[in-house]
Amino acid sequence: METGLEVGAGWVKGVKAMNGLLDDRAVVVTGAGRRLGEAFAVHVARAGGSVVVNDIDAELAERTTENIRRFGGRAVASGHSVADPKQAQEIVDLCLAEFGAIDGLVNNAGLNYEALPWEDDVEQARELVEVNVLGVMYTGLAAIKTMVERGRPGSIVNISSGASLGQRKLGVYAASKGAVASLTYSWALDLEESGIRVNAVCPLAHTRMVWKSERSLRACPPDRTPSRIAPVVLFLLGPGSDGITGQMIRCNGPQLHVMGQPYLKQPILERPVWDTETVQRAFDEVFNAHLENYGLEKRVPPRLRKWTESTRTA
Ligand SMILES: NC(=O)c1ccc[n+]([C@@H]2O[C@H](COP(=O)([O-])OP(=O)(O)OC[C@H]3O[C@@H](n4cnc5c(N)ncnc54)[C@H](O)[C@@H]3O)[C@@H](O)[C@H]2O)c1
Repeated sequence: METGLEVGAGWVKGVKAMNGLLDDRAVVVTGAGRRLGEAFAVHVARAGGSVVVNDIDAELAERTTENIRRFGGRAVASGHSVADPKQAQEIVDLCLAEFGAIDGLVNNAGLNYEALPWEDDVEQARELVEVNVLGVMYTGLAAIKTMVERGRPGSIVNISSGASLGQRKLGVYAASKGAVASLTYSWALDLEESGIRVNAVCPLAHTRMVWKSERSLRACPPDRTPSRIAPVVLFLLGPGSDGITGQMIRCNGPQLHVMGQPYLKQPILERPVWDTETVQRAFDEVFNAHLENYGLEKRVPPRLRKWTESTRTA
């Protein structure tokens, strides 16, 4: 089910011209050799932006670049790995060298795999964190430094996931996407005054990440194509989203919504010192009623289940 050149070229033909939304803007899209990243890069170019098409699979990066050039778009390929800080810097340097600026970054490159915690492989976990977390940091920091030094406003779109709320068999992946969410909120706070907006998108689209998982395939029919998510990324890169920062936006094809953010929940109990006994009392007497359903599936905590499960008849 991997995309081929024909499919890639077909997307290019199918994407509507977007009336110069990103004219004169230079944007880096990481992991843009296939599927979501490819769709983001094509949409950026269709909207008039110049795009660095990055993918560790250099041949695929070249393929996307060729497709974009074929319709007259401006693109340059990068086969760098985002998981290496020097190479991440080189991606940003390439954008400056080719297009004279960097106005946007779509941190899309990512890995995923499913494993139950007791079967997880530490090497695979490390590799995933290096791409999904450190890769976003390295490329983001390189882009941010350049934007700040040059005093130019910019827009960073990190690709997170609904899995960041917690999903079975996806602990390491979910944690990496939770880290991306935290980076998004924190960078948005630090960068607002510099005119750099930072938002995240949680997509759902038919890609090899979904093909690998029976559960994901059930939730994601084939018509959920990456190009249905691309307009959201384009909006966040463009001037129409001025004033929007620090947000997590989810789109699964038909549904578009803002994700709720974690917060300090009331009631907040206070006493000079907490010992185990008073913590126990706090839970027995107060917090029992405030425990939260957990994970993306909103599972009721065992303590509360007796109140929520229907009573069995004898
Ligand atoms: N497909 C979905 O439904 C879905 C859901 C939630 C989040 N996401 C996220 O969307 C992003 C794109 O995913 P996709 O589904 O298109 O996956 P994909 O595997 O089709 O594409 C990911 C791309 O990233 C590239 N890549 C991997 N390591 C890299 C590195 N070190 N440097 C540069 N490029 C690298 C890969 O070569 C690949 O082309 C990922 O961050 C993923 O976690 C996808």
